Order: sequence, then C-alpha cells, then structure tokens
Amino acid sequence: MAERSTDQERDFALARVIAIVNDKGGVGKTSIAANLGGQFAGAGYRCLLIDLNRQANLADDLGYRDSDADDQGAGLLNSVLAGTPLVPASDVRPKLDVVCGGARLEDLTPIMVSRLQHRGRRAFRVLGDVLAPIATDYEVVFIDCPPESTILSDLALAAARWVLMPTKSDVGGLVGMTLVAERFALAQEINPRLGLLGVVLFGTGTRSRAVHAEARAAIDRAFGGHSPRFETTIRHAERTAQDARRLGKLAHELELEAAAQPAWWETLRSDVRTPRVSATAASVAGDYRALGVEVLTALQAAEEAERTDSPDDTAAPDSTAAPA
Ligand SMILES: Nc1ncnc2c1ncn2[C@@H]1O[C@H](COP(=O)(O)OP(=O)(O)OP(=O)(O)O)[C@@H](O)[C@H]1O
Ligand SMILES: [Mg+2]
Repeated sequence: MAERSTDQERDFALARVIAIVNDKGGVGKTSIAANLGGQFAGAGYRCLLIDLNRQANLADDLGYRDSDADDQGAGLLNSVLAGTPLVPASDVRPKLDVVCGGARLEDLTPIMVSRLQHRGRRAFRVLGDVLAPIATDYEVVFIDCPPESTILSDLALAAARWVLMPTKSDVGGLVGMTLVAERFALAQEINPRLGLLGVVLFGTGTRSRAVHAEARAAIDRAFGGHSPRFETTIRHAERTAQDARRLGKLAHELELEAAAQPAWWETLRSDVRTPRVSATAASVAGDYRALGVEVLTALQAAEEAERTDSPDDTAAPDSTAAPA
C-alpha cells in the first residue's frame, strides 16, 4: 500500500464532509441538515452534524436545546482555539452525533479575523484540521452553515469536500445563491477539492415546470453552467415545520407520531386536548427520504469516478456500502 502524506490523510478523512450553505436566511439549511442526518442515522449510517449557527436551531429541530449535550458552541470554540480534535455530543439519536452551535460561537469571528491578518486565507483550514481526526468515525458529516456570516461559512467551505445548497425559487433565494457561487470559487483556492454536490429547491409550493426551469437557469448562471440540481424538492409544509420545532422531532419521527395518534373524532370526544401532529409529516418525510437517496447516489457516482481516475488507495471508500 502506498504511504499517504498528511495532506492526503486529511483529504481522505474529509471526503464525506458536506457543507449545507446559502448566505440567504430561511432557505432550509438547518431543516435539511437535521432531517438528512436523522434519516441516514436511522438507516444505520454513522452521521455527524456540525452546527455553525449562533442561534443553533439544530438544537430545536433535534430537541436537545438546554440539555446536557448542549454546550452552546463552547467545545467547537475551544477546539479551534487549541487546535485539538472536536468532541461531539454522542447519540442525540442512535448513530447521530452533534457538535453544538450557540452563543459561544460569537467569539469565533474576531479570532478568525485576527488569524486571517497574520496567516492569510489558509487560516480557514482550521475547522478541517480539528475535524479530520474524528471524521473517519463517520460515514457522512453535514455542516449546517449560518446565514450571512461569511467567516463561519468560509470555515465550512475550507473543510468540506462538497457543498449542498438549498434555495427557494423566489428572486431573493436565487440572489443568495449567486453570492455563494462567488465564495465557493474563492474557497477553491485553499480547498481545490471542493465540489458542488447539488442544489435543492426548498419549501416549494408549486410543481410548476416554468418556476423550476427558471430556478434551474439561475443556478446555471450562478455556477457557470455546472449546476447539478437534485430532482427532489422539499415541499412547503408550515404546520409540519412548526410541529418539528415545537416537539424537537424530525419529519420521519412526526410521521410515526401522526400515524399513532387517535382519530380526530376520538380527540374531539376527549376532555384532554393535546395538539395533533399534521398528517403532512409523512409527505415531508418522503421528500427527505428521496433527497437522501439522491445525495447518496451523487456521492457514490462522484467517488466511483474518482476511483477510476486514481486507481491507488487514496480515493474515498464506497459511501453506499452497507451501513456499519
Ligand atoms: N417544509 C417546510 N415548509 C415550510 N416551512 C418550513 C419547512 N421546513 C422548515 N420550515 C421553516 O422554515 C424556516 C426556515 O427553515 P430553516 O431554519 O431550516 O432555514 P435556514 O436556512 O437554516 O435558516 P437560517 O438561515 O435562519 O439558519 C423555519 O422557520 C422552519 O421551521
Ligand atoms: Mg439555520
């Protein structure tokens, strides 16, 4: 077996790191990170979520806010400061670990500004450096990026192998995408392996072909003609979204809950009124399942192409192998 250089080892460890990025707020970054992570873990893949948000909505979607697991981002901040491996909170779901975000991440921006002045853009590689030693414990790692904050998203873009970009089909969403495309190109200067896994339309209320074609054209323009787009769209389902954050449950967990709850007429007869879970959860869970399959298929195709290009042992392992 050929010996690997440190850089190759780093690349190998980070081969399944997917940054979920869009500078625009409210386009589904956190919902997609939580639901894909939860679905993959439920299917038996060891999965890690890294939350780079000060608001830490991932804690709401997965229901661990203010629990012992929730360190408000202190662990992530300490790892970056000391250059020591990240220490995730284990098993927020079976096989699903999290590096928490939160208020402590506010300190990260001034630290990075100072490091950038001294070391230049290579300072952004620090997140990859502290992630690489633990990344091989997982089959997929998702980084949930914040809106607007360039420095924290730049950290993610320097660590990731792939970008998954959710967008809405409205004009505002498509403008945010153009900004990401520019920062994506800049990040490739220090992380040449960074690739666009795909763009996913989020919260769509329409199946209109014209709207989807317009979004596709905008994606093409933003990424210079290379614009893989996932076929699956995540439908607009406000009540399911509210149930999810209120209860700290993922769409596929709400799906089970909706199926198990008593019929509505029995609820009406009862004196105890508990809010009902919207039955739309099943459809939303189905969207995330379909997106998960597409993501794994895209990873597998890319890794297969890489193995064919470089037949030595430096390419990533098969992402769709039976889960451990
Ligand atoms: N399928 C859905 N349909 C409608 N609304 C949804 C759906 N899924 C999630 N939402 C809601 O949309 C809002 C934005 O979602 P989310 O937090 O995932 O986006 P985001 O890109 O992470 O936002 P931010 O940039 O603020 O971090 C949230 O209030 C969430 O509850
Ligand atoms: Mg978010």
